[in-house]
Amino acid sequence: MDEIMNLTAHRGLSSLAPENTLGAFQMAIDFGCQWIEIDVQLSQDFVPVVIHDQTVDRCTNGKGKVADLTWHELRILDAGSWFDEDFHREHIPSLAETLTLVKNAGIHLNIELKIYPEDDVELLCERVAQIVTESEISSEQLLFSSFSTEALISIAQHLPEVKRGHLWQEIPEAPETTLQQIDAYSVHCDYRYLTEQQAKHIKSMGYQLFCYTANVPQQVEAHWQWGVDMMITDMPQRYCDATTPEPALNA
Ligand code: G3P
Ligand code: MG
Repeated sequence: MDEIMNLTAHRGLSSLAPENTLGAFQMAIDFGCQWIEIDVQLSQDFVPVVIHDQTVDRCTNGKGKVADLTWHELRILDAGSWFDEDFHREHIPSLAETLTLVKNAGIHLNIELKIYPEDDVELLCERVAQIVTESEISSEQLLFSSFSTEALISIAQHLPEVKRGHLWQEIPEAPETTLQQIDAYSVHCDYRYLTEQQAKHIKSMGYQLFCYTANVPQQVEAHWQWGVDMMITDMPQRYCDATTPEPALNA
């Protein structure tokens, strides 16, 4: 199996399986992806759970805010049928079971700390750090990212040995101070806003540069040339098509 190092499966292989489910993660692993991105937030009873939206409405058969539902209430929801009836057995995963899967597969996990208004940033980071520590997964397999600088500062205090990347839709004018503040490893931005000048600036400072959510390989051909290291995509399969001009596979 070829190992795909420069594509991150966004929320798992989310174009072929329901996003942020164990099924989507396993599909990404089977496909050869060495990196998976997930979104983590807290249930009402402070269990770190893997789901993107503030509510369960779009991706499950339930209703309500994740932060208002207990782990048990979240767990019994069907998180697959909205995508395809074949996935009706999928549930919202806990961070703990996701870490077990990733640890056993020997791949890498980009944990996005998802912060919604009124979320307790410190509590999320404390609980995430606790679960990561209990999992005994290698720090080398992990990378934290967030749009919240506060969350990245907090997680650095709990787990300084795990790398951190700052998420911005558009990289700000002078990102240096913030990147130094979180002792960043990487910068993650929306590929649609990235310019060649910004890419070269970020690379000249020694940071890894990740782009999301690049689902059309032809739209990011220039980005690879600018020095982008990683495309976060729902569709890694498109990059592995033999007709793609810039094959993304590392043997
Ligand atoms: O981590 C990249 C990407 O996931 C950030 O945006 O909304 O898909 O979590 P979003
Ligand atoms: Mg995300």
